[in-house]
Amino acid sequence: MSPRIVGFSGSTRRPSRTRSLVEAVAAEFSSRRSIAFEVHDLVDAGPGVGAFSLAALPREARAIIAAIEEADGLIVGSPVYKGSYAGLFKHLIDFVDPLALAGKPVVITATGGGHRHALVVEHQLRPLFGFFSAQTAPTAIYASDHDFQDGILTDSGVRARVAQAAIEFDRAVVRTAPRPSIVNVA
Ligand SMILES: Cc1cc2nc3c(=O)[nH]c(=O)nc-3n(C[C@H](O)[C@H](O)[C@H](O)COP(=O)(O)O)c2cc1C
Repeated sequence: MSPRIVGFSGSTRRPSRTRSLVEAVAAEFSSRRSIAFEVHDLVDAGPGVGAFSLAALPREARAIIAAIEEADGLIVGSPVYKGSYAGLFKHLIDFVDPLALAGKPVVITATGGGHRHALVVEHQLRPLFGFFSAQTAPTAIYASDHDFQDGILTDSGVRARVAQAAIEFDRAVVRTAPRPSIVNVA
């Protein structure tokens, strides 16, 4: 069965460079392996996404959280807001079951206006998924506004990182895929 890969993009805007980057990673990964891919944006989470409890979140937001928890692998992305991940991106992640991502392969990505905050992937996103004991790909990807043309990721250096992250993600997804159980027919 194809692994279920879930993209989660923390932008509230559409079109979104962050979503485009998440999709670029998924496209690269799917050129190596057949996957069932779905991508969710914060804009899909409904206007009540800032609710204070899981039960009070809109149904759409709870569905995104469930998809994140049940995925075989995650590709996450956030725009940089004020030097960090977007607040509402973190707000949704705050409701994820603390045990649900343990060992789960995750590619971390972010986009920003320039290169000043490129290390947000290492200094903010990687520790966040470290909290969950997720298996983050060694290669994290940051892209600035200048790396896109008409919303498409065009910079060759960033595209090379996307390809490298997809290789690492592929290895991790294969390693963590559930093994078919051996049926005793005797
Ligand atoms: C409220 C706000 C704050 C931002 N703060 C930063 C920042 O601190 N550093 C940065 O590099 N870009 C910053 N940006 C630019 C966005 O991160 C950048 O344009 C990003 O690619 C937008 O992603 P999107 O197209 O997915 O919405 C900010 C944009 C907004 C709207």
